[in-house]
Amino acid sequence: MAKKTIGVLTGGGDCPGLNAAIRAVVRKALRADFNVVGVRRGWKGLMTKDVFPMDINSVSGILPKGGTILGTSRTNPYKDDDSVKTAHANFKEIGLHALVAIGGEDTLGAAAKLSRDGFPVIGVPKTIDGDLWGTDATIGFDTAANIATDAIDRLHTTAESHNRVMVVEIMGRHAGWLALQSGIAGGADIILIPEFPVQARDVADAVLKRHDRGKNFSIVVVSEGAKVEFADTGEAEEVLRSRELDEFGHVALGGIGERVATALRRLTKFDTRVTVLGHVQRGGAPTAWDRILATNLGVRAVELIEKGKSGRMSALVDGKFTDVPLEDVLGKLRLVPKEQYDIAQVFFG
Ligand code: F6P
Repeated sequence: MAKKTIGVLTGGGDCPGLNAAIRAVVRKALRADFNVVGVRRGWKGLMTKDVFPMDINSVSGILPKGGTILGTSRTNPYKDDDSVKTAHANFKEIGLHALVAIGGEDTLGAAAKLSRDGFPVIGVPKTIDGDLWGTDATIGFDTAANIATDAIDRLHTTAESHNRVMVVEIMGRHAGWLALQSGIAGGADIILIPEFPVQARDVADAVLKRHDRGKNFSIVVVSEGAKVEFADTGEAEEVLRSRELDEFGHVALGGIGERVATALRRLTKFDTRVTVLGHVQRGGAPTAWDRILATNLGVRAVELIEKGKSGRMSALVDGKFTDVPLEDVLGKLRLVPKEQYDIAQVFFG
């Protein structure tokens, strides 16, 4: 009997650990006697039938490497009726028995829809934002949190030398996980996240209070989606880099760090600088944990295909590797709960 073919793709923003996941999928699939094809540049590769055969050597040496050897894009196969038709037709023409989609909310949202439409897809969760519903851990988050923590450590030494307030803007979109965890780990003096809007005046007061007790520098961590109310506008809106929507309807966030720094300069009169960590947070080698997570999630994704499952996401729930329905992941975000923020707040000021 002819061997069945499994496809693998990575979609959305890249992150460390994607290659470890691709390697796990390919190695496990070959061992289970499937053919494997790599789909280039996420859903874009499905739309253009840009696929290539993968063997054991295709994934040799990629475990510690950042980025994704498959490439990625923010293409949405469910953008309109025509794109849906193309995606369905190409899935059949490529001859896919099943597809492993490694991605965040957008990529896995499309995976859920394909599966609903009768095309077998299994999801593997990745995102540095940590905002994916249905799993306690996503590939890339740990590495990004370590990079951001290292940056905060480094900002501490220069902030102290110059008696400055350092504002650091951290990625995370509408969820504050990355800012919160790196802020806690790095000993930030204040952490601003989207889930809990604040007034700029209160942030300034916390900085002033800290300086009153003899500290002459502060680290203010600001999540890119944080909502801060400034006296001049009276609004606590997200600050946007661009209003242009991507194919999944997302605006580009960015600029809140600069806004917070301007307000702090005015309200405290302290010398204030801004660091926007940006895509540095998504680059370089994955941590050991991200490699282990990616390996487990990837192998288990293929095991699900072997069992004839579709529409599931390989996941880590309550410390156990398991799988959850992709449908449950659709349209929901895993946000920071109040009790988590309360812990961070113990160290504010
Ligand atoms: O979702 C991951 C992420 O890095 C977000 O934290 C950030 O807002 C966005 O992607 C940046 O997207 P791009 O890579 O398109 O600049």
